[in-house]
Amino acid sequence: MNGNLGEPLTEWGCEHLIERILIPADVLQRRIAELGEQISRDYAGKDLLLVCVLKGGVMFLTDLMRHIHVPHEIDFMAITSYGAGVRQSTGIVRILMDLQTNIEGRHVLIVEDIVDSGRTLDHILRLLWTRNPATLRVCALLDKKGRREIYVPLDYVGFEIPNVFVFGYGLDLDEKFRNLPFVAVLGAEAFPNLQASSPIIVGRRKSEAVE
Ligand code: PRP
Repeated sequence: MNGNLGEPLTEWGCEHLIERILIPADVLQRRIAELGEQISRDYAGKDLLLVCVLKGGVMFLTDLMRHIHVPHEIDFMAITSYGAGVRQSTGIVRILMDLQTNIEGRHVLIVEDIVDSGRTLDHILRLLWTRNPATLRVCALLDKKGRREIYVPLDYVGFEIPNVFVFGYGLDLDEKFRNLPFVAVLGAEAFPNLQASSPIIVGRRKSEAVE
């Protein structure tokens, strides 16, 4: 098993955690190139600002912008979806770091790694609309549609994925493995190996895989 980069998974130190590769690196890159081309066409002649939601969106942003052939700027927001402890279904969202850019009159495209319940994105959209952008759209690499709790409009989607715990390509497993060039599914047998304090174990992260 490898992530389609030729290296065996043992090179990444996570082989024992992976049930299967959900999206291999080459498939990811092909789709990201398509998204970049589509965005380039849609924003031709427009003053585009990409807003990346940290931390998960970083890998996606840096690959996507290489395929966006219209002049554009980037900025970052850091958001946390949940409180410090157990996951809340009340949609508690905190802004840890705000944009540096004034988005009034700008064409803003939010770049997200994954949309799950939709609560993080809903919060960001509501906040950014109050700042009067010319347009405000969303590009999400992964859409875990089956988990949606609140409607959010997604203008560009890389892949619709099933309700499984995924990590890699920006998405973390206890803050690690964001560097993987592929998206992997966490194996059920990996759970006993995770620390009891892991957010996955206490249910902070979003996955029905935690029973
Ligand atoms: C992830 C992801 C989205 C959010 C989606 O961020 O990057 O921002 O969760 O979940 P939702 O649709 O249920 O709100 P996370 O809070 O894991 O932070 P991170 O990107 O820093 O890992």
